Amino acid sequence: DPLQPPDLSTCDAEGTTTTDRNTGKVIHIDADCCPPYNGTDPESFYVPPPVDTLRRRPAAHRMTPEYLADYKLAIQMMKDLDTTDPDDPRGFAQQANIHCAYCNGPYDQRGFPTLDIQIHNSWIFFPFHRWYLYFFERICGELIGKPDFALPYWNWDHPDGMYLPTPFAESYSPLYDCNRDQTHVGDALVDLSFAPGVSVDANLNQMQQEMIVQGDSAINFMGQEYSAGSPPPGAPRGGTSEQGSHGGIHVWCGNPKNTLRENMGNFYSAARDPIFYCHHSNVDRMWTIWNALHPTAEPILDLDFLDAAFLFYDEQKNLVKVRVRDCLDNTALGYEYEFSSISPWLNYIP
Ligand code: C2O
Repeated sequence: DPLQPPDLSTCDAEGTTTTDRNTGKVIHIDADCCPPYNGTDPESFYVPPPVDTLRRRPAAHRMTPEYLADYKLAIQMMKDLDTTDPDDPRGFAQQANIHCAYCNGPYDQRGFPTLDIQIHNSWIFFPFHRWYLYFFERICGELIGKPDFALPYWNWDHPDGMYLPTPFAESYSPLYDCNRDQTHVGDALVDLSFAPGVSVDANLNQMQQEMIVQGDSAINFMGQEYSAGSPPPGAPRGGTSEQGSHGGIHVWCGNPKNTLRENMGNFYSAARDPIFYCHHSNVDRMWTIWNALHPTAEPILDLDFLDAAFLFYDEQKNLVKVRVRDCLDNTALGYEYEFSSISPWLNYIP
């Protein structure tokens, strides 16, 4: 059976354990990140509004001043809600908590009170994060009164984008986060492959491996099966993209001086860094590109995949229930990517 949406009435803050990467000690993470809940669940599945023009997500290193001003305003307004109305599910802290709740143990699977929901390390990784960003983006648009607002993507698969996008490094900006590796600014090159010796070539090679060579089937690229009643999957079940560039950027951003490399380096804290959403916009773009690159690859048609479901709050603060099958095509969700920067790893020759 497909994974069911969480039961918010049993959300608990008991948290999870993780292993301290320095000492090897098992440490407990408090996960006090349950969302507000009024006791009523949506009956039917969310239907995305009809699309007339597609919102176009731009590359972060090419944001125009006007666009950047909108983006900063949106994030600032979300952060303001944290103080003016902390129970508003559109607030920045509430949005960050979504990630914690779906990854660090607060949600048990319906009918399986001993099994935590974990939306990483399986085939639901891409769909979950697509829906998550979809509502985050709509909330941004709603707050600033521009419904066509589209999130930027961090174009780390292109040599021009292999750096922390400058606006995120400016302190006093709503895009800033002090819990990052503070040496990874300016011309510090991202490391997508965890291999010794960072280089543009190593990054391009990593992209080619995970998108083409090793990511040669939907399951290999996206991740292994995850169904109701399965224990939380571990890293080896994740797809080439999740385990590769996706994880590489998380580690590269997190602050190595923090025990769990917070913020970006751990599930419970990752989405507290505004760069998370910009990073995941590119992760989502990789899913779109992968589909275009592998037109004959067999899609995953297992109903345990297609009917897996999640709960989110939309831009009107309504609790909504969404299904994987309804997010497979990003244009049906009303957005596309600025594609002009495609993609030197396609023809990379080692
Ligand atoms: Cu839910 Cu980049 O992780």
